[in-house]
Amino acid sequence: MGNHLRGKIQQLFPKWTHLRDQYRWERRWLNPEFSPFWKTDEPQKEILGAVASGWFPKNQAVIDLGCGSGEICRWLAGQGFAVLGLDYSAAAIASARRLSAPYPDALTFKIADLCRENLQLEPAFSLIDRGCFHRIAKGLRPVFARNIAEATLEGGHFLLIAGTFQDARVVNHRAIPPSNDFENTWRKYSAITSSSNERKPLS
Ligand SMILES: C[S@@+](CC[C@H](N)C(=O)[O-])C[C@H]1O[C@@H](n2cnc3c(N)ncnc32)[C@H](O)[C@@H]1O
Repeated sequence: MGNHLRGKIQQLFPKWTHLRDQYRWERRWLNPEFSPFWKTDEPQKEILGAVASGWFPKNQAVIDLGCGSGEICRWLAGQGFAVLGLDYSAAAIASARRLSAPYPDALTFKIADLCRENLQLEPAFSLIDRGCFHRIAKGLRPVFARNIAEATLEGGHFLLIAGTFQDARVVNHRAIPPSNDFENTWRKYSAITSSSNERKPLS
């Protein structure tokens, strides 16, 4: 299916696209063999930087949006943060809970669809999204952005990591839009104060 047709389907049927994507994620997370290239226990340099510089202050809770099986949550818990991991896949949350048994006090996982209107999350100072927002259907991105803006405490920090892998499967992925698309959406619904784009085309 071409990009144009795919875009049209997303545009005409955003809710259907959303339900189909959710179904696909559930199927993936239910598969015990699911081992995508982006799944890693190693935190990315942006996360290391946010913690080392105090941009994510240690005395504040963190929300991990689209946490999958919770690798980032566990790493943050190991650094002393209280973390809430959210994902719309029940199988992902079950796996995150199972793998996080050694951190019973620092970690909470909940099933939540970040594209649900008026989600009303308990606001936190620090939020992170690695790889969730960049696959949200265009028509639903404003809802997602509004939910996250409302879930961020005044002056809080949101780290959005999107399409940063220098891997052909990400760089050339038909469903991952250019990063200025993200910035434009976020600028509309939240007060973005800084951003960086390190995504380069593979030669
Ligand atoms: C590429 S994975 C990244 C997982 C994790 N953040 C990581 O870096 O390992 C994207 C995750 O976002 C979740 N997701 C996608 N759309 C979502 C939505 N609308 N609400 C909640 N979770 C969502 C998927 O179920 C999946 O676990």
